[in-house]
Amino acid sequence: MSDLLNPPPQHVAIIMDGNGRWAQRRALPRSAGHREGAAAVRRTIEAAAKMGTRYLTLYAFSTENWSRPPEETDTLMDLLEKTLDEYQQNADKQDLRILISGSRDKLNARILAKMDRLVRSTAQNKGLTVNLALNYGARQELVAAVNRWLATRPAQPCTLQDLAAHLYQPQLPDPELLIRTSGEQRLSNFLLWQCAYSELYFTPVLWPDFNGQELQKAVLDYRRRQRRFGGI
Ligand code: FPP
Repeated sequence: MSDLLNPPPQHVAIIMDGNGRWAQRRALPRSAGHREGAAAVRRTIEAAAKMGTRYLTLYAFSTENWSRPPEETDTLMDLLEKTLDEYQQNADKQDLRILISGSRDKLNARILAKMDRLVRSTAQNKGLTVNLALNYGARQELVAAVNRWLATRPAQPCTLQDLAAHLYQPQLPDPELLIRTSGEQRLSNFLLWQCAYSELYFTPVLWPDFNGQELQKAVLDYRRRQRRFGGI
């Protein structure tokens, strides 16, 4: 009898952690770790698309990451801009639909324009949806959702459906699987609403070392889990 209790996840979310430690272990600057992290993003997108995953949400930059030294936030913004350029070139070839979730505050006008163009130009693609969580915080998302809902001048109290309908990407199903790399075991203000019943998978692998094989390991582990959603 198969021990696979679940079909493959449709939506996988990843907290990509460990770029700094990867660099430190090699006596390299942190920026080198982030560059390798960007390569791991590329590999993981390809692997997820090949596995038939429908949605992949990647935590690329948190609202709290602004507290890092300016050299590091500059490096991350620079890499982000290069990633946007790269996917503007390649997303159609890979049939990727790109979404971006987060606050627009503090992002420069050039990056905002590139984000908007990429989302618009890939909106009709039918392959993997890559949802980049960028300048993202889950608490901020929930406050924004409440404010958007209030702006509809509701006559009734807020329901679960009302709140869910005003999140950044209400059309996406909740992730069945949340992966965090680098051995840390916390949520760090990521998808607090959407991961209410997600299966959590923690791996010691540092993000720059993550690849398709590691993704397959996580998915297999998920498929063996018994999910109960609060029932028995
Ligand atoms: C955590 O490593 C990772 C981040 C701060 C953000 C993720 C960024 C990338 C994967 C690279 C760029 C990708 C895109 C899409 C622009 P850390 O610096 O917190 O590592 P540490 O905990 O070992 O210090």
